[in-house]
Amino acid sequence: MVEHEEEPKRFSPKVPVELAPPKYDPIDAEELAKCDGTDPNRPTLVAIKGIVFDVSRNQAYSPSGQYRIFAGKDPSRALASSSLKPEDCRPDWYDLDDKEKTVLEEWFTFFSKRYNVVGKVKDATNY
Ligand code: HEM
Repeated sequence: MVEHEEEPKRFSPKVPVELAPPKYDPIDAEELAKCDGTDPNRPTLVAIKGIVFDVSRNQAYSPSGQYRIFAGKDPSRALASSSLKPEDCRPDWYDLDDKEKTVLEEWFTFFSKRYNVVGKVKDATNY
């Protein structure tokens, strides 16, 4: 039963993913925006709480993918509130309720288990 699944396995990918050591190089919002899947010479990036993940291998974040709205952004607020609205694809999450903050934390775990951390959004205040 899902409720009794052991904690370390929660949100783990079905096929194991080999992750590189995390990198926390500063990436500014302008550069992040360019990494939205439209430039073949750049990776596709999504940030959560200022931590930048390389999601290039998932077509869902490509320009024709169902989650393209998140690419090149820190959409923490949208992830927390299960929204795909462009206006919710912003980094501020501090004023959300506890349930939404938990959902955001779960997305962070989900991404951490699938995608390499390649940087940190420069000047992200972490709200
Ligand atoms: C009709 C509603 C929705 C359906 C049917 C749907 C379906 C799916 C499916 C099938 C997956 C793949 C699951 C997996 O790889 O294990 C997925 C992943 C995902 N969904 Fe949705 N979803 C819906 C709504 C939303 C909404 C509103 C959000 C906004 C936060 C969202 C965000 C995501 C994200 C971030 C992923 C992870 C993609 C990845 O990196 O693997 N989804 N969804």
